[in-house]
Amino acid sequence: MSDSKRKILVTSALPYANGPIHIGHLLEYIQTDIWVRFQRLRGHEIYYVCADDAHGTPIMLKAKAEGITPEALIERFSAEHRRDFDDFSISFDNYYTTHSPENRALAEFIFGRLDAGGHIKKRVISQAFDPVEGIFLPDRFIKGECPRCGAPDQYGDSCEVCGATYSPADLVNPRSAISGATPVEKETEHYFVSLGNFTDMLREWTAGGHVQEEVQNKLREWFDTGLRDWDISRDAPYFGFAIPGESNKYFYVWLDAPIGYFASFRNLCDREGIDFDAFCQAGSSAEMYHFIGKDILYFHTLFWPAMLHGAGFRRPSAVWAHGFLTVNGQKMSKSRGTFISARAYLDHLAPDYLRYYFAAKLNHRVEDLDLNLEDFQQRVNSDLVGKVVNIAARCAGFVNKRFDNRLGATLDDPALLDAFVAESENIAAFFEARQFSRAIRAIIELADRANQYVNDRAPWVVAKREGADDELLRICTQGLNLFRVLMIYLAPVVPDLAGRVSTFLCSPVDAREAWARVGEPLLDHRIGKFTHLLKRVEPGQVDAMISASREPGPTANPSQETKMSEKKDDTIDIDTFARVDLRVARIVEASLVDGADKLLQLTLDTGGERRNVFAGIRAAYDPAELVGRLTVVVANLAPRKMRFGVSEGMVLAAGPGGKDIFLLSPDDGAEPGMRVK
Ligand code: MSP
Ligand code: ZN
Repeated sequence: MSDSKRKILVTSALPYANGPIHIGHLLEYIQTDIWVRFQRLRGHEIYYVCADDAHGTPIMLKAKAEGITPEALIERFSAEHRRDFDDFSISFDNYYTTHSPENRALAEFIFGRLDAGGHIKKRVISQAFDPVEGIFLPDRFIKGECPRCGAPDQYGDSCEVCGATYSPADLVNPRSAISGATPVEKETEHYFVSLGNFTDMLREWTAGGHVQEEVQNKLREWFDTGLRDWDISRDAPYFGFAIPGESNKYFYVWLDAPIGYFASFRNLCDREGIDFDAFCQAGSSAEMYHFIGKDILYFHTLFWPAMLHGAGFRRPSAVWAHGFLTVNGQKMSKSRGTFISARAYLDHLAPDYLRYYFAAKLNHRVEDLDLNLEDFQQRVNSDLVGKVVNIAARCAGFVNKRFDNRLGATLDDPALLDAFVAESENIAAFFEARQFSRAIRAIIELADRANQYVNDRAPWVVAKREGADDELLRICTQGLNLFRVLMIYLAPVVPDLAGRVSTFLCSPVDAREAWARVGEPLLDHRIGKFTHLLKRVEPGQVDAMISASREPGPTANPSQETKMSEKKDDTIDIDTFARVDLRVARIVEASLVDGADKLLQLTLDTGGERRNVFAGIRAAYDPAELVGRLTVVVANLAPRKMRFGVSEGMVLAAGPGGKDIFLLSPDDGAEPGMRVK
């Protein structure tokens, strides 16, 4: 190994705990995970931590709309996020939450240190307030007409039509996006970090190679306009950590979010006996890298290093920003079906495909990356299946059938294997520098050479020749060893495939320090039976994923839609019926809905998952008699936003209506989550 064992702490940005993980997010988690897996393969001591970003107004309001506590909401999303990341083989050493005791302690500590250093001040500001809801409104929760172009229904910070940026006070006819009330200005005292105190330190730090070149230019602009004080408090009601000594003021979510990196790491250290200080204290020789999207640079290159420095911690070795994901050249869109959730992808396609495609296109710059779905299929099929896996497919059968699964003791062309091994430091340098596309190009060039070798030596011809067994075995041993080297190089990118290859070769291509063993070929070594390592992407799979992700556009008129369906013949085919996911659910809570005399609000347990559903059964049932009962629910009905909150399914009932409605109740013996057929 060229460099000795390094200590490295790596993070990806913490996803908000109020929405699903989508393929845009995955660009970041996959980029980070490839880099981390590469470092593990090189034998370094590396920890990859992340967490859900659980605080803030949007999370509080979403929980309220669903009639649940913010704790229950973030719990639900945390479980969902963990499953998604697991299924994409994102190899976090710890996945935590910012709503944790460790994070509270660290946030209070860092705030205390900044305060003691004279970097915190209080100031009375005037802010928009929703008099109906009784809460201060973040800019994004105020809507009105754009002061520049007059476009209606624009957010309080910027206009999506003409691109103007402004403050909410400039909006014409402003309204609260929550209650619709006209906001009033109200005075309140806030805490600020005097970011200007850190200007010299930050100028020096950002010029010291800790950010990408193009980011440095952006930062120079920010320095030139001057660093303004940073508002770090919010008034109650708020979901977050109360500021010490205050009863109704909280830390702004962006104060405790980056601290969440440390809190997640602290939690890991305590569990596994790792020395936290060795990584985090000022002067630490460990490396610390943050992978982020370009939209959150300000927080990571100015606020975060200032907080760390002001509190006596080390600063990041580097902050690495990537660009945004587009699909087929356009912003992800729900109506085009290109706003693809992690789950919708996994329902149709293998994670390694996407990981490979992103790797083939990623570089070290802040550039946007396009997922072109045709190119995606083509590249995966031609490179990964057609080139890499094909090498093994063409050699393995002979070893399995004719040589009792045993590789030979000699190679056919040792110099060719040496040439493959000689590329290892080149390829490693590309991975190290996050130039994944160049690493992939170098690996696929080697795959081309390996296929050329197999073509030239044509084992299928040799196999038919009398007395050529030794030669046949030497060729197949050569081919499989070339394949093994390629799979070590690719292991960080396609971990599931690497796992199957390790089983097939009876030798791990993905073990810690495997990289150092590329030059040790498998000779006189028993391998396993060759099975299908990777299927081709079929066009139907991509289409199915897009249709499953498509939501009707905002212009669709629901009443027109009903009219159209009334004209149609009213039968449905079996496939349509099969798409209705009917499940047994237990009613765990039932309550009246203020202002809705036909509705009940139900909390359903659909087998380890809680859902909020509104049902028009109030005339027929007393809420109290429903609790504990089982019923049948349409589980895959798209959530509907109602005046009272979001309904996440539909309860099935029979009867003419009014008092005569009968909930479908499965007989005894059913369990929440069971499918109804
Ligand atoms: N919670 C904050 C981050 C706090 S870090 C201390 C946040 N969350 S997020 O869920 O909106 O985004 C998480 C990460 O995903 C960010 O780095 C963001 O840039 C990235 N992406 C979100 N959408 C993306 C694309 N469409 N394309 C690429 N990256 C995207 O920001
Ligand atoms: Zn405008």
